Amino acid sequence: MNILVTGGCGFIGSHFIRLLLARRPSARVLNVDLLTYAGRGGNLADLARHKRLRFARADIASNAMRAIISRFRPEAIVNFAAESHVDRSVLDASPFLRTNTLGTQNLLDAARAGGVKRFVQISTDEVYGSIPGKGRAREDGALLPSSPYSASKAAADLCCLAFHRTHGMNVVITRCTNNYGPHQFPEKLVPLMITNAMHDIPLPVYGDGQQKRDWIHVEDHCRGILLALERGRAGEIYNFGIGSEPPNLLIIREILRLLGKPATLIRHVKDRPGHDRRYAVDCSKSQRELGWKPQMSFKAGLADTVSWYRKNIAWWLRLKDSSFRAYYKKNYA
Ligand code: NAD
Ligand code: TYD
Repeated sequence: MNILVTGGCGFIGSHFIRLLLARRPSARVLNVDLLTYAGRGGNLADLARHKRLRFARADIASNAMRAIISRFRPEAIVNFAAESHVDRSVLDASPFLRTNTLGTQNLLDAARAGGVKRFVQISTDEVYGSIPGKGRAREDGALLPSSPYSASKAAADLCCLAFHRTHGMNVVITRCTNNYGPHQFPEKLVPLMITNAMHDIPLPVYGDGQQKRDWIHVEDHCRGILLALERGRAGEIYNFGIGSEPPNLLIIREILRLLGKPATLIRHVKDRPGHDRRYAVDCSKSQRELGWKPQMSFKAGLADTVSWYRKNIAWWLRLKDSSFRAYYKKNYA
């Protein structure tokens, strides 16, 4: 089976490709990635000579996608490619709309023209917006995105559903909570706090630090995506999360404890505009229909992740380059 994976040089896409090749010996994978600041070929260095993995550098929002699809003839497309960081979308929304929304629409058109049998859209629980009280968003919940990032993803979801209804395309959408694990770009909360703390750089906490996300290990998410690809019903949406809700400050304190660093590194900074207070999803549909169950507790997963960043300093040090420093200065000014 030929499977086209977009964004496979990013954090989650690279874990997914590794899982897919390991679990499905008949799968041949073409990884299409534009290699933006967030995409690194090195994330798949262990698979550089893998016989069933190929790579093409291309933009999902470009005409190149039609030619790529007609040559590779994928049975399925799994679309991870995206601009993925909320803070960057606050600074400039345009690349988000271009890649996440128009890129998805372009890929849907190319998939349709190429007769692709299944299209899996990797979306996010952020499309539901902030969830008050003890509620949990279900797949049929309202879309109330707060950031330009989540708005661009919600628009892409609507496009996917429209292509299913209008053109009968076999589309499945996954909406997962916040991921963490090895190879996550050090702009996101967990790797930023680990790598800053390792170098005794202050840890910037937005507002009171009591915001909650349901942190899931990236490998649990990828197992869910594989199930959605193989068992998901066309036109359906599947949530993934593990049901834990540690507030940001608790996570940061745990990271400092694991690294043996002092709490004096914590700095409360101005809150992120439009900051969602809480994300929480109901995953009963994925458990019931796909037979999915997360395997990693947040405590164990976080300890493993801290240890990975300690052992792989060369990997993340390269990413904290001058363009990262310029972004950092602008965002945290
Ligand atoms: P990431 O930023 O680590 O990787 C994104 C990848 O997409 C990079 O390799 C980048 O080079 C590539 N890319 C960007 N623009 C492209 C374009 N126009 N054409 C081709 N490739 C392009 O992101 P991630 O954290 O791995 O997220 C992957 C997907 O999962 C995204 O769609 C994101 O919305 C979704 N998601 C992420 C999380 C999370 O916590 N990180 C949670 C839920 C859903
Ligand atoms: P992030 O990793 O950016 O993911 P998302 O915004 O998609 O949930 O942020 C996770 C949480 O951590 C969110 O509540 C914002 C907060 N945060 C900080 O307090 N400081 C930071 O420097 C960053 C990057 C995030």
